[in-house]
Amino acid sequence: MRGIVYTGDDAEVTDKLEVADPGPTEVKVKIVAAGVCHSDLSVLDGTIPWKAPSVLGHEGAGVVEAVGSSVRSVKPGDHVVIATLASCGTCRACNTGHPTMCIRSLGNVSTPFTYGGEPASNFAAASVFAEYTIVQEVQAVRISKDVPFTSACLIGCGVLTGVGSVLNRARVRPGETAAVFGVGGVGLNVIQALRLSAASRIVAVDTVAAKEALARQFGATHFVDASQADAVEEIRRIVPHGPQSTARALGPGGVTWSFDCVGHPAVLRAAVDALDWGGTAVAIGVPPRGSEVSVDINNLAYVDRGLLGCRYGASRPHHDIPLMVELYLAGKLMLDELVTETRPLEGFREIVEDMHAGKLARGVLTL
Ligand SMILES: NC(=O)c1ccc[n+]([C@@H]2O[C@H](COP(=O)([O-])OP(=O)(O)OC[C@H]3O[C@@H](n4cnc5c(N)ncnc54)[C@H](O)[C@@H]3O)[C@@H](O)[C@H]2O)c1
Ligand SMILES: [Zn+2]
Ligand SMILES: [Zn+2]
Repeated sequence: MRGIVYTGDDAEVTDKLEVADPGPTEVKVKIVAAGVCHSDLSVLDGTIPWKAPSVLGHEGAGVVEAVGSSVRSVKPGDHVVIATLASCGTCRACNTGHPTMCIRSLGNVSTPFTYGGEPASNFAAASVFAEYTIVQEVQAVRISKDVPFTSACLIGCGVLTGVGSVLNRARVRPGETAAVFGVGGVGLNVIQALRLSAASRIVAVDTVAAKEALARQFGATHFVDASQADAVEEIRRIVPHGPQSTARALGPGGVTWSFDCVGHPAVLRAAVDALDWGGTAVAIGVPPRGSEVSVDINNLAYVDRGLLGCRYGASRPHHDIPLMVELYLAGKLMLDELVTETRPLEGFREIVEDMHAGKLARGVLTL
């Protein structure tokens, strides 16, 4: 079987993979399309420590090939989006609508593959850069056959993460203002969810000037090229305290919500500095372990600013994936427009290069 394996220092496109049969609670999925998320690149450069060998990819969609003896919710032939949360379904978090806080959903590694005859683990409980993968029943979410796989796959991470951060975690209200740092696969979904939430001003920030057109297409009302201008100053100029006044950093003025979709301490600090009184920054990007951000606590405590983390859009996959599909089919959520290029597995390196060069909304692999 073909797939992309993390070998410890690089990614290798290989045909030396084998996958196990599904256990009683598992589903075997024939992957049709898979998006390349920055978190896959973060494994390769060591930002996200992961053990090798393992099969990469965690944003995928495909067709159910086989199911274990106790699986009831899907059957062979169903189209599914794969969620990365192998949540248990029985703990307090799962049963209060917070599967992203299920302790079983983090760091659970299984070994459904062999690579050259040796055991190989999965990544993010998904491993969708392979012709077939094995997931828990709870992770295979059936979708309408009307959604093309190349668009559906993106729901599995970038869409749930970005849209969910706005709808589930921040719960942005009509008329509020926002800044989005990083116009990649995640950031664009934050932007379009802010549009759906009727945010009044949506300021997109990226260090690649060419991202402006994409940002505006998805709903940004303003764009700041952070390679040329001080993003915080620009945001405070675009969203001043009053029509005539521009307040200094951390005075009044600035946005109600800011989202770090980059994963760098300086970006998260800028996201805090761009906040109005009462505003909240949401940390989505994932920097190397141990990264810290510093902020004058008075600038939070005196004026009700906040800082939140957000994993996987605080999503509830069996609610949110069908919701994304419904919004897409109603013409309200852009998925096709997120796919800048489509390549076979062998084109992984080109997608990575184009991602680093800032050319993509998302690159998608087809199997
Ligand atoms: N919290 C979660 O559950 C979760 C889920 C998915 C991805 N992530 C993380 O989110 C981040 C973004 O992922 P992605 O797939 O959208 O990445 P991406 O590579 O598609 O996009 C990143 C964007 O950030 C821009 N950028 C880089 N440095 C910048 C800076 N200093 N200021 C402004 N913009 C800058 C790049 O030009 C690019 O447009 C990654 O860190 C990824 O690991 C987190
Ligand atoms: Zn991801
Ligand atoms: Zn649980």
